[in-house]
Amino acid sequence: MIVLGIETSCDETAASVVDSDRRIRSNVILSQLDQHKPFGGVVPEIAARAHLDHLDGIISQALRDAEISLDAIDAVAATIGPGLIGGVIVGATMGKAISLARNLPFIGVNHLEAHALTCRLTHATPFPYLLLLVSGGHTQLLAVLGVGRYRRLGTTLDDAIGEAFDKVAKMLGLGFPGGPAVERAAATGDATRFALPRPMLGRAGSDFSLSGLKTAVRLALLGLPPGPVSDQDLADLAASFQAAVADIVADRTRHAIRTFAQTYGSSGVLVVAGGVAANQALRRRLELIALESDFTLVAPPPILCTDNGAMIAWAGIERLLLGENDPLDIKARPRWPLECGWASG
Ligand code: KG4
Ligand code: ZN
Repeated sequence: MIVLGIETSCDETAASVVDSDRRIRSNVILSQLDQHKPFGGVVPEIAARAHLDHLDGIISQALRDAEISLDAIDAVAATIGPGLIGGVIVGATMGKAISLARNLPFIGVNHLEAHALTCRLTHATPFPYLLLLVSGGHTQLLAVLGVGRYRRLGTTLDDAIGEAFDKVAKMLGLGFPGGPAVERAAATGDATRFALPRPMLGRAGSDFSLSGLKTAVRLALLGLPPGPVSDQDLADLAASFQAAVADIVADRTRHAIRTFAQTYGSSGVLVVAGGVAANQALRRRLELIALESDFTLVAPPPILCTDNGAMIAWAGIERLLLGENDPLDIKARPRWPLECGWASG
């Protein structure tokens, strides 16, 4: 089975051809970074227009790279939420149009589910597994029990981790997107120079809170001696922030592993997904956390952690293999939670 996947929910216009043998035949990603950079963040209206301008070319490129025509495609999968609704509508409408014109099944994919299932494309990870989903819009710990079956163990009470990286980068003048910029700056910094707080550390459960840490970075910046901030100051602040995030993530994940293990067994798989999973310092820390609990860490390659069409095609394949597809009048959804809370089942 060969599926075309389309992703347009944020600032990447992406299309990919993937088959049910877990082969990524093409994976084309056009980042709109340069268009959003002057504004220091993603501008929804600019994103939607850029998707509209480029999506047909990106799909053609994905088919060319895969060396197949639409005749060889068995189904079309497109993100229908959650995300910036203008962009989601562009991708969803394109996917539906192709499926209508070619009389192919259409699968409307939940973007978060696509992140959650990527490890099954890259590593054939069996259910159940514990997932840490960390992106610009989401920070969640989930028990992934099957396709469409998720239980939430923890979530953020305020900012998403990627959002905190982006905001701190903006504060420090490191540019956009913030995650990679902070990681680069942190590489030459002293993580012990600024004593930043670790909100929620040791608390019961697995929820996160990032806004206090973000404020503490702002206060540390304001507390520096008057005059221009040196590169070393910036590097030390970035490193101190990243270390605090790593401590928070480690503590919350440790709690979630304990809860997961109580129900599903004491050795298992911890999967990290979403854009922040590209952070190497965080990955190293998660490896240690997994090891100490007799869990194995699975992390898809960074290019499949940030937004891409391959994960959308794969989520489509998973649903098709279960005999599912969607009617063409299925609606795009700006909000679409994946899970129910642990307590409510
Ligand atoms: O999954 P993604 O591509 O888009 C969303 O669905 O949000 O994640 C983007 C987020 C941004 O906040 C970006 O700053 C963050 O992932 N990110 C990183 C790194 N690379 C991307 N955060 C920390 N370290 C990185 N290396
Ligand atoms: Zn994403």
